Parts: sequence; structure tokens; C-alpha cells
Amino acid sequence: MMQNSFLSPIFKTGMSSKRRKLENGCIRRILQIKRRFHAKYGPMFRERLGPVTNLSIADPRLVEELFRQEGKYPNRPPYDAWLLYKDMRKRTHGISATSGEEWRKIRTILNNGLARPRQASTYVQDLSTVAGRMVNRLSYLRDRNTTDNSIPNVHRVMNSWSIESIGKVLVGESFGALEHDLSPEMEGFMKSIEDMWYTGHQLMVFANVHKRLNTKIWKTHVQSWDTILEVADNIFEKKRNEIERRLATGGELGTATSANVMSMAMHLLSQNPEVQKRVRAEVDNVCGEGEEMTLDHLNNMPYLKAVKKEVLRLFPTIPTNARVLTEDTFIGGHLIPKNTIVLLNTFTMCRDPEEFNNPDEFIPERWLRNEVRDFSPFTSLPFGFGARSCPGRRVAETMIYFGIANIVRRFELRPTKNSTQVKPFVRTVLTLGNELPIEFHDR
Ligand code: HEM
Repeated sequence: MMQNSFLSPIFKTGMSSKRRKLENGCIRRILQIKRRFHAKYGPMFRERLGPVTNLSIADPRLVEELFRQEGKYPNRPPYDAWLLYKDMRKRTHGISATSGEEWRKIRTILNNGLARPRQASTYVQDLSTVAGRMVNRLSYLRDRNTTDNSIPNVHRVMNSWSIESIGKVLVGESFGALEHDLSPEMEGFMKSIEDMWYTGHQLMVFANVHKRLNTKIWKTHVQSWDTILEVADNIFEKKRNEIERRLATGGELGTATSANVMSMAMHLLSQNPEVQKRVRAEVDNVCGEGEEMTLDHLNNMPYLKAVKKEVLRLFPTIPTNARVLTEDTFIGGHLIPKNTIVLLNTFTMCRDPEEFNNPDEFIPERWLRNEVRDFSPFTSLPFGFGARSCPGRRVAETMIYFGIANIVRRFELRPTKNSTQVKPFVRTVLTLGNELPIEFHDR
């Protein structure tokens, strides 16, 4: 099995030296730093970031204690940069940045629309079709661009797949992001999404200072949001309605997280041929040749589901969840005051050898029903927990199942020659970057 050690070399191509310098700095190392702090100071410590003092926890028992005490309106700190932009352009904040009764109202509508099992039947076939189009695009780009079966900026295809899937579910529209030859407008849209996440991460701290000084990072952030929303507005024009607009803003988080999970899944499968073989055998066995996959097929693929869980354990795309305490709360025997920001270090817990045997190895088998599970369910919560947990979970999981199943059906994924293990880093969400050392061979 492969080792996913943090000490392994970084694979990086196709990035300007300026970007590389920044990302090799503390932005990239945030998770490693957090892991070291927890090893040194224990599972719970306070840390000061500028004027704000946070509580950082990395123990499933403490996480459970916190979640079990959540009141009616759990709250998460918003991304300052997004709020500042939306206030500047007089746009609604979207669900992830609202709290209290206002949040509850939007959330109830979103839950009815996304999270109920019976709603799934309305979008599942769309997701299957979009996954098929994604695989066609991979094949097209491989044949057009390279002689070595790799695909330049393969992560962008995952972004396109994610946007198309979520667009279909939320507003029933296609962005046209999986067409073979993208229009200049769509190319600009895709590039703006990458820039928005990249600068959004740089603005994680002191966003208001960047805005006041009108720094280059802030200007790029504003420009990328302007482009994204202009294209989205053109598409939503047909469905102009305040509620739908708000629901659509819920997709911001969903597109980047799902796309990164797929890139990570492809990478891990390319590095672990035995796992790839087993999941392909399951897909081939359940779904006849040339048949379009359905929910019934997915329901008979336990190994595929275990693969998804293991990808999300090794690479939880939201590596640090958070809460703003709405009441004074006891955690680990300490009374933590109301309004404290609590950071829940999912990434650190998911790699904890006390919880998982061989934590840095990719072993989907550990999630199969007949295996003994001796880890706490609060260790790996990639979609969060409780009333504020991810409303897109069912959609995202269905997307990922169809995505992985379609890819292994069409291709054999192999690591490129001389490729090294790719290390994850944080760019607002956890990512492997745009370039992946994978060869896509037809089966
Ligand atoms: C693999 C993909 C995804 C992962 C790993 C993920 C993970 C998460 C996590 C960890 C949270 C915070 C939960 C908490 O605070 O306890 C969250 C919130 C959220 N996610 Fe997802 N998500 C994914 C896909 C999606 C999709 C596809 C959508 C939309 C269709 C979506 C929409 C949202 C929204 C709107 C929130 C904020 C909910 C609220 O504040 O009430 N996510 N997600």
C-alpha cells in the first residue's frame, strides 16, 4: 500500500514561480502546523490569530461533546472575503453566511429540496448522464493534447463536472462547461472559479485590510466573483426568483469540494492498482456493458462506497470545520465562553494512529460492514454534523459514486512515469492542485 507521508516530495507543475513561492509558505503548511501543535499541546488548545482567539480541538470525544450540546441555531464563522464582496455589490449573503432564524428559514427550504431521499429520484439520472459526459471530455482532452495519455489541468475537468452536476440539481440548467470546445466566456468562467478560491484563501486573514488597501489580491478576488456571478446571472435569468438565487449560492462550497474529492479519488486509485481493480470488478459485475448507471446499480456497490469514505478520510476537503458558540459551553471540563470560535481539526483526527491503523494508507476495506471498526464515528465527519451539516451530502455522494464508477469503467488509471506522491494543501478547501500525475489508458 502506498505511503501518504507528509515528508514525501511535492509534485507540482504548471504554476507560476510566484504562486509556488506563496503556496510553499505558511498557506500550504497550515495543516502540518496544526498537526504539530496538537502533538505538542494536546487535543485542545487556544490560539490567537490577530485580534481573535480560537479554540482548536482534535479529539473525537471533544467533538462529540460539542456537537451534542448544539442548540437550535448552530453557527459557523463566515468567510470574511465573500461577505465583504457581497456587501460591496449589494448581493444576498447566501446560506453559509447567515445565522439564527434567517438561516433556519433558508435551510428548511434547502433541506426539502436536496436532502430528502424521495427528492433524489428527480436528479439522480441527470447526475449519471453528466458523469458520462465528464468521461467523454477526459477522453477528448487526452487524445487532443498529449501522446503520453496524461491530461493537462485535469482538475479543471473535475470543476466542470461539478458545476454541471450541481447546476442541474439546483436550477435544472446546464452551464455548458463540459462541451468539447469551450467558448471564451466559459474558459473565463472556469479560470475565475480557480482565481476566486485561490485569492479567497489568501484573504482568509485580514480580508478587510486587503479591501481597504485595494491590494492586487483583493482586486483579483473581486474580478473573479464579478465574472462568476455575471455568467451565473445569465443562466438564472430564466428563473429569476429570490429564493432560487439564495439556494444557488449554496452551491459555491459544493462545487470546489466535490471536484477536489474526484481529483483525489483518481489520484489514489492510480497509485493503488489493487483497489482500482476491485472497484472496477464491482462496477462491471453490477452494471452491464453499455448500460447507463442508475441508483439501483449504486445501491449494490458497497466497495465503491467504501472507496469514497476512505478518500474523504485521507483527504477531507473541508479539513477544518468550525463553530461559533451560541452559548457558554462545557468542553473537556472547561467552560468555553459564548461567541468563541471552535476549530474542529478533521484532518488531524483522520490521520490519528490512535484511531486508525496505518492512518496514512489508502485502505477502503476498513469501511466494509463485516470489518471491525474501532474508531469513533466523530473522527471522520467530512460533511460535518447536526442541523448545520452539509445539505448537499446526498447529492455530492451520488455525484462521486457516478464519477468514480464511470471513470474506472472507461479508463485504467496509471501513475505517470517518475511521478511522486502528490501532497494535499489548503486553498480554502483541501486540494491536490490542478495537475495530477495520472495516465488515462483505455481499457
Ligand atoms: C464531497 C463534497 C462535499 C463536502 C466534503 C462537503 C462538506 C461540507 C461541510 C464539512 C460543511 C460544513 C458542515 C458543518 O458545519 O457541520 C458543508 C456545508 C455546506 N455545504 Fe457541503 N460539502 C460537499 C458538497 C456539497 C454540495 C454538492 C452542495 C450543494 C449542492 C453543498 C452545499 C453546502 C452548503 C449550502 C453548506 C452550508 C450549510 C449551512 O450553513 O447550513 N455541499 N459542506
